[in-house]
Amino acid sequence: MKNRMNACLIAVCMAMSTGAAFAQQPKADIGKQEYEANCASCHGLSGKGDGPMAGQLRTSPTDLTQLAKKNRGVLPVSRLYEVIEGKNVPSHGSREMPVWGREFQIENAEFYKEARGSYDAAALVRARILMLLEYIDRIQAR
Ligand code: HEC
Repeated sequence: MKNRMNACLIAVCMAMSTGAAFAQQPKADIGKQEYEANCASCHGLSGKGDGPMAGQLRTSPTDLTQLAKKNRGVLPVSRLYEVIEGKNVPSHGSREMPVWGREFQIENAEFYKEARGSYDAAALVRARILMLLEYIDRIQAR
């Protein structure tokens, strides 16, 4: 599982860096950008669960820097992927964490409206979640 995930990440990163090199621009940290745009409001810029919206929620946002520590030093990638994607969450559940699989799909569709469906919607959602996981891996307290 870990190898497959790594291979997938490498493929995504290669695709991104080729584009960046072509444009002769410094490499963008996509995972960090995704995190800051979508997650920091609740989980905090540092990932410790202290974002500006945290006080307004019934459940405290998880401290994302402790996930590996709580799992014997290994980031539980598959489980986190499912939590972030939110596929198995009942639509009227008590979860306060947004269902990112759906959010990203809606956002992507808006962004690619001109492309009229000629993009791989599922792959794009997967890439965004993998980028986030790669960033979350980098902010783990070890
Ligand atoms: C509106 C606030 C909010 C936003 C925005 C948000 N989260 Fe959360 N998140 C939560 C809360 C609250 C929890 C605690 C679980 C729950 O909802 O019951 C949580 C839990 C999690 C968990 C679960 C950890 C575990 O061990 O189960 C992960 C992973 C996570 N969030 C990642 C993200 C990522 C990645 C983003 C951005 C794409 C994000 N969150 C954006 C509120 C938020």
